[in-house]
Amino acid sequence: MTSQIRFLMCAPNHYDVDYVINPWMEGNIHKSSQERAVEQWEQLHHILKEHAIVDLVPPQKGWPDMVFTANAGLILGNTVVLSRFLHKERQGEEPYFKQWFEENGYTVYELPKDLPFEGAGDALLDREGRWLWAGYGFRTELDSHPYLAKWLDIEVLSLRLIDERFYHLDTCFCPLANGYLLYYPPAFDSYSNRLIEMRVQKEKRIAIAEADAVNFACNAVNVDHIVVMNKASEALKARLADTGFQVIETPLTEFLKAGGAAKCLTLRVTEPVREELHANVSVESRIIRIEGHLLDSGLINRALDLITDNGGSFQVLNFLLGEQRQSTSAAEVKVSAPSHDVMESIISHLIDLGAVDLPQDERDAKLEPVTQAGVAPDDFYVSTIYPTEVRIKGEWVKVQNQRMDGAIAITQSPKGLTAQCKILRDLEVGESVVVDVQGIRTIRKTESREQRNAQEFSFMSAGVSSERRVELVVEQVAWELRKIRDAGGKVAVTAGPVVIHTGGGEHLAQLIREGYVQALLGGNAIAVHDIEQAMMGTSLGVDMKRGVAVRGGHRHHLKVINTIRRYGSIAKAVEARVINSGVMYECVRNGIPFCLAGSIRDDGPLPDTEMDLIKAQTEYARLLKSADMILMLSSMLHSIGVGNMTPAGVKMVCVDINPAVVTKLSDRGSVESVGVVTDVGLFLSLLVQQLQKLTSPYTAKVS
Ligand SMILES: NC(=O)c1ccc[n+]([C@@H]2O[C@H](COP(=O)([O-])OP(=O)(O)OC[C@H]3O[C@@H](n4cnc5c(N)ncnc54)[C@H](O)[C@@H]3O)[C@@H](O)[C@H]2O)c1
Repeated sequence: MTSQIRFLMCAPNHYDVDYVINPWMEGNIHKSSQERAVEQWEQLHHILKEHAIVDLVPPQKGWPDMVFTANAGLILGNTVVLSRFLHKERQGEEPYFKQWFEENGYTVYELPKDLPFEGAGDALLDREGRWLWAGYGFRTELDSHPYLAKWLDIEVLSLRLIDERFYHLDTCFCPLANGYLLYYPPAFDSYSNRLIEMRVQKEKRIAIAEADAVNFACNAVNVDHIVVMNKASEALKARLADTGFQVIETPLTEFLKAGGAAKCLTLRVTEPVREELHANVSVESRIIRIEGHLLDSGLINRALDLITDNGGSFQVLNFLLGEQRQSTSAAEVKVSAPSHDVMESIISHLIDLGAVDLPQDERDAKLEPVTQAGVAPDDFYVSTIYPTEVRIKGEWVKVQNQRMDGAIAITQSPKGLTAQCKILRDLEVGESVVVDVQGIRTIRKTESREQRNAQEFSFMSAGVSSERRVELVVEQVAWELRKIRDAGGKVAVTAGPVVIHTGGGEHLAQLIREGYVQALLGGNAIAVHDIEQAMMGTSLGVDMKRGVAVRGGHRHHLKVINTIRRYGSIAKAVEARVINSGVMYECVRNGIPFCLAGSIRDDGPLPDTEMDLIKAQTEYARLLKSADMILMLSSMLHSIGVGNMTPAGVKMVCVDINPAVVTKLSDRGSVESVGVVTDVGLFLSLLVQQLQKLTSPYTAKVS
């Protein structure tokens, strides 16, 4: 024995794999050899005794995992925070460990019931004593971290574990002497990795490979320059030797079957206190309320998943279940996050789901002035597609011009206060912008499944439809188009050149002619190839009647562009009878406004193509205003652009052959959007046929 360092161990008299509470135990029930386990434990005990004092706690029958003393509690100086095991299979160990700590003169703190914390398995002191690394995600709750900070009077840095094989912090993270750190980065989320990188300089971080990680190389015991572990690769041993550490390998394979190794089998009971350091914890908690058809619509599951997926943890404080099928439920959930930034991100996602931050009911939104035109203050709230309200001077004010990815600008005029979504470049000095996430709520429709099914757009709300269901979708879209037209509503179409290449041009032209389209948005290409077809019978050089490429046809579209440029505009070419059919022809003839937004790919461009993108975006937004439905036809670029400008509540139908594009657009969480994965030419042809069948929406409904 060379130092005054002490460890607590527990002999493996009753050790066995009796149950499964981690992935390592699966398939290993009663597969460990008692004899080998004793031999391996004794070997570890022997090694440690050469470098430190080892105390023993008596093993207890019926508690096979008591051998893993790391989970007894967390010690700093004379204080211990006793573990509160998550699984009942280990909870019976608590009184025995408590007794040992009390008998040995420690002051024991106990966490509230139902707040799991698994001791030094999930909380590791920096070996310089500067702070405590605390894990959460599988066994320990994030909410226990503030208690550790308070009772041990130390800064706590919370790390989130995301790989269930590394369910305790000490399975993938091992602070070493002189500020070194041995760890397996993929076991942590990106926020935690950033935190580690901020606190431990690059030269001191020893990141290990998966092969070493699964041999529990991080589950090591460090005493000065000695690192005791189950097994290490030659590369790891060399890397540690370079930094002055000597690896002592001692096989612990019998304990690996239960998901533990050297570190798990020991608890360091002499952890010196640094008097000059004090408590500090960045964990934040807030209480949110969420209401609606929480179970039926899956909203509560989505909210809780969202909290954990974004690095937080939760506790459901109240759940008031609606008594009738149609009545709504309400839940109050305590959300905890390891930092203010993470909390803001979680809360802004929850706001999107319609949740309200409870104390914020009484708090106004935070505002900051715009000091530079076109630039929002840092930390500005990024708007979503959902109708939003902000609380200003005690009043909830509805936000105008709702759209995604904008800032909420507040202006005070003699007429009163207005809140509106603005894109960054439109922000003006003198306006204020909503920052942070307080005093903001979104109004979400949380219909029950039955209510949603009763709506006409119903079955589409299930999301992306498969090929088999295309005809059914077409029927619904046709019905909707007819209804909107008869009511004098507005349908905007955004389309790419594939509409023309697939033969859909004539059908789209017919829709325009028959009054089903009130605005057309697209790029240079839809117009170029439509006019190419009208003037030369080809689309991108392919004869549209025979389906074969025409010699020299690849130049057709350039000739067309040249001709239209000579006339000065598409409208003038229509007037001069150079264009006599097609999509653009029908737009001009029927006075349907269109906007062609330029792109880097454009040939020409046509004189009508707006190459100033800011102007094009403004014109798109103008044409989309008060649309009842948007048909997005095979243009990823323009459809996504339009999607971002559109508030929830506008029905969107996205047709594309690529499921990923359709999913991206219909996945905005809005029940009104539907994706159709099919050929756009086929879709348009079916749509026109279907519309012809509908003599009148009312006769169709009655029959
Ligand atoms: N000559 C030109 O000037 C020229 C030519 C091409 C594109 N452009 C410009 O480039 C930009 C992007 O072009 P884009 O919108 O065509 O490309 P895009 O890649 O944004 O979208 C094309 C979409 O069509 C889908 N698609 C392909 N075949 C389909 C089919 N049979 N049925 C249904 N969907 C199908 C694809 O999956 C894709 O999502 C536009 O602004 C356009 O005007 C210019």
